[in-house]
Amino acid sequence: MSEIEHESDTLNDFTPEALTPPRVVVLISGNGSNLQALIDAQSHDRLGGGEIVAVVSNEADAYGLKRARDAGIDAVALPHHEYENREAYDGALIKVIERHEPDLVVLAGFMRILTPIFVQRFIGRVMNIHPSLLPAYQGLNTHARVLADGVADHGCSVHFVTEELDGGPVALQAALDVTADDTKAVLKDRVHAREHLILPIAVSWFLEGRLRYNGTHATMDGVALPACGMRLSHGDAAEELDEDINDADAP
Ligand code: GRF
Repeated sequence: MSEIEHESDTLNDFTPEALTPPRVVVLISGNGSNLQALIDAQSHDRLGGGEIVAVVSNEADAYGLKRARDAGIDAVALPHHEYENREAYDGALIKVIERHEPDLVVLAGFMRILTPIFVQRFIGRVMNIHPSLLPAYQGLNTHARVLADGVADHGCSVHFVTEELDGGPVALQAALDVTADDTKAVLKDRVHAREHLILPIAVSWFLEGRLRYNGTHATMDGVALPACGMRLSHGDAAEELDEDINDADAP
């Protein structure tokens, strides 16, 4: 047998180990449009090779659970009112999540404050999408507060979750110019479009091992990011979303 034939025999005998896709668990409470963005990204092979293995909601009638089922994803309702307190609920939540052995947990409209026990269990592996340019406008009702304050810049952020509510290091933001035509509902829709753009990107970067939390900062390719993370400008986001920039900028 020649050397070449020998080598090719060796290669023919070689069975590569199947690569297991990184696993993602998504937590929701409601509509689940961000979950849908992740599902769509996965089905277009734009989720860093990852697989959404389960969706958990604290609200049994969350529409996002239907979205999960329709996509063939394990959908789990875990109603919080059936538990005595936050610690008991989060203990149950940890068990459900760990059964699915996730590499990443994504909070996509999960409207509950998490206990330190939960956060510490998954630290560095939990990301949240928040409808403001953090650290501005932590908490609820961000669109109404932005309009009431008359500020010109708004947007959304993907950040790592720490014990400080909406205070963990930001990975990626998308900015938006607030216009005179923006009502609360309009602004919510415009911000949502940006959420759907950046959440799958941040998740894919994490699953590819590029985006990390080093205990103090979010890092990208090993480099610590500034406090606002990486930011997509209004113009760049609008271009990605095929928005009419002139309309959006109209006074
Ligand atoms: C989004 O605006 C997200 O930023 C916030 O909750 C909302 C969830 O929307 N945390 P959806 O359920 O993904 O449509």
